[in-house]
Amino acid sequence: MTALVSQIPSTIERWDAALAGEIITAHAGMEGAALPILHALQDEFGCVPKQSEPMIADALNVSRAEVHGVISFYHDFRRAPPGHHVLKLCRAESCQSNGGVELADRLLARLGIDWGGTTADRSLTVEPVYCLGLCACSPAALLDGEPMARLNDAKLETMAAEARRT
Ligand code: FES
Repeated sequence: MTALVSQIPSTIERWDAALAGEIITAHAGMEGAALPILHALQDEFGCVPKQSEPMIADALNVSRAEVHGVISFYHDFRRAPPGHHVLKLCRAESCQSNGGVELADRLLARLGIDWGGTTADRSLTVEPVYCLGLCACSPAALLDGEPMARLNDAKLETMAAEARRT
C-alpha cells in the first residue's frame, strides 16, 4: 500500500520564536518546569516544535539530549501538528484483550499511517493512549476528546469518513 502520510513533516505549520521564548520564560521558574513548558508549547503550536528544543535546554540549563529524551518519553507530545481530528485509540490491557490490537492494526493499514501519523489530507491523526477508564466497554477511544466505546471496524470506518468531510 502506498503510504498516504508523512509521519513527521519536515516543517511545522507555524513557528514563532518570540512567542515560544515567552512561553518558556513564563514557565522556566516552576518546579519541574520541563513538562509545563512542553505542554504550553504544544497547546500553542499543536506540537513541540523542534526549534524550541535548544531554547528549552538553555532556559533549564540542561542538554538538548535531555530535552529530546523527555519529549520522546511521553506519548502525549507531538513532533508535528495534528490533523483536523485526533483519535486517541486505547492500547491498554482490557482494550487489547477485546480485539483492540487487531482493530487498530486494520484502521492504521486502511489509513496508510502508523501510530502518531496523520492522513495525507490532514483529516485525522491517530495516537495511542493507555486506558481511558472505559474498560467495561472496550475497545475504546477518544475522538477530539469525546469517548467512543465498543469499537469495531464499521464504527471506525464511519468515524474516518466523517473526519474527511468535516
Ligand atoms: S484498557 Fe482501554 S479503556 Fe481501559
